[in-house]
Formats: sequence, structure tokens, C-alpha cells
Amino acid sequence: MKLKHDNIERNLGLLLILTMLAISAGGLVEIVPLFFIKETVEKVEGVRPYSPLELRGRDIYVREGCYLCHSQMIRPFRDEALRYGHYSLAAESKYDHPFQWGSKRTGPDLARVGGKYSNEWHAQHLTAPRSLVPQSIMPNYPWLGKNNLDYSDITLRMKALRTTGVPYSESKAEYEQNVKEFGEDVAKTLVIADAEKNLVTQAQLGNYDSNAGNVSELDAVIAYLQVLGTMVDFKKYDDDYFVKFR
Ligand code: HEC
Repeated sequence: MKLKHDNIERNLGLLLILTMLAISAGGLVEIVPLFFIKETVEKVEGVRPYSPLELRGRDIYVREGCYLCHSQMIRPFRDEALRYGHYSLAAESKYDHPFQWGSKRTGPDLARVGGKYSNEWHAQHLTAPRSLVPQSIMPNYPWLGKNNLDYSDITLRMKALRTTGVPYSESKAEYEQNVKEFGEDVAKTLVIADAEKNLVTQAQLGNYDSNAGNVSELDAVIAYLQVLGTMVDFKKYDDDYFVKFR
């Protein structure tokens, strides 16, 4: 064996060829699965793209660096399921660009925080976390409630996501396709041309920040937080091991 390896090491041409073979094997193992990513991410009922208001909320979440302390991925372990609910599915972040899985949990995971607290709780907590959780080390974000939400570029933001494959619709045919896929109510919120109107309507109906007069950044962030983890109805999968711990 030793002698044979000697031969390889002394023969530059052979060494090069064999090295390249070894490297391409490793490369293929990493690259080939990417060709099948469409099939790997299973379709799951209920998962839909964000509405314009939720999308702006998500952008503010990214702007403020919430992901530096909060993950959005529940791992498939019993302790995680006990604490946060069903483990995260790949499909649940398929419209997230970039995804917010995160790698650090200074605060709790937020993948299923939607519906856990009232809008009032979130408004108070984001403005002054310690007024609700005295030992909290989360920063205050008092400006979210004061800043009017800038949504002048919402259509551009949706168009950008559209190029990555998020089905925001620009044509009648795309709208029809969305109706088939998500139902009419959701499909309407995905029409790029109606984005501003839809955003304002959702903010006013939702009144997330308890200030009906304006559309604030707080409205958007709370709308986003309240939808996290609520798209898939896990009660439909009753036999699932994790559901009984919820
Ligand atoms: C410095 C780290 C840090 C940053 C940055 C941070 N948080 Fe937190 N967050 C925490 C900690 C710690 C807790 C747990 C204590 C508490 O509830 O305040 C928490 C709790 C929360 C909760 C309640 C979760 C639950 O299940 O009880 C929400 C919602 C939340 N944060 C949202 C946000 C949002 C939105 C942002 C960005 C605007 C943000 N956080 C930024 C540390 C952080």
C-alpha cells in the first residue's frame, strides 16, 4: 500500500487527477441536493407569502437586528417541542428571503410566537420590555410606535421577492393561479398593484398598536409577529408525536 501511495505522490500528473476526482466527489455531494430543492421542500397546506403589512414588519425585524437574539427555528427535539410547539418545517420559511432561522437564542425562539400574546402585550413589550418582564435584557424599541411606517416602496419590495420565486402577482393569470393555490382572500393580498391599499386596510382593521389614527412601524412588526407559526394548522396532524405536548 505504502509503495503504491509513493507512486501517486511522485507522479504529479496522477496526483493532480486523483486530487481533482476526490474534490469533485465532495463537491457533488454538496451541490447535487440543490438541484432537487423543489422536491425536498414539501408543500404544506396553509403556508402563504406575507401580506404587504407583514412583509414590512419583517423588514423592520431585520433592520432592528431582532435575529441577533431570537431564532425562528424549532428543532425536532422533545424539549424544544415542549417549550415552543411543533418543530419547524422547511416549507414554513420557503417565502422568507433571507430566512430568519438565526443561530443565537438570547431570547426565546419566535417561530410560533403568533397568537401567544395579545397585540397590546406586544406593543407594550416592544416599547418597554421590562415593564412586563422585569428581568428582561431585551432593548426598548420606543421609536417603533412613534415612526410612521414608510411603505412608499412596498411594491418594489414585493417585486424583488417575486424575482426569487415568491408568488406576488402582477398579471391576471398569476392572480388566478394564486386563487387556486391559496384561496381568494389570500390571493387578493398578493396583488402587487394593490399593495399600498391592502397594507393600510390591514393596519386599520388590525389596529395592532392601539392607535387607529396612523400606520406605525409598530403596526407592521406586531402584524408580522402575530402571523409567525400560525399558517399551518397542526391540529390536522393529530397523530403527530409532538402535537400532544402543545
Ligand atoms: C439583546 C437581545 C434581544 C434583542 C436584540 C431582541 N430581543 Fe426580544 N427578547 C429577548 C429576551 C431576553 C426575551 C425574554 C424576556 C422578555 O420577554 O422580555 C425576549 C422576548 C421577546 C418576545 C417574547 C417571546 C415569548 O415567547 O415570550 C418577543 C415577541 C420578542 N422578544 C420580540 C423581539 C423583537 C421583535 C425584536 C426586535 C425589534 C427583539 N425581540 C429584539 C432578547 C432580545
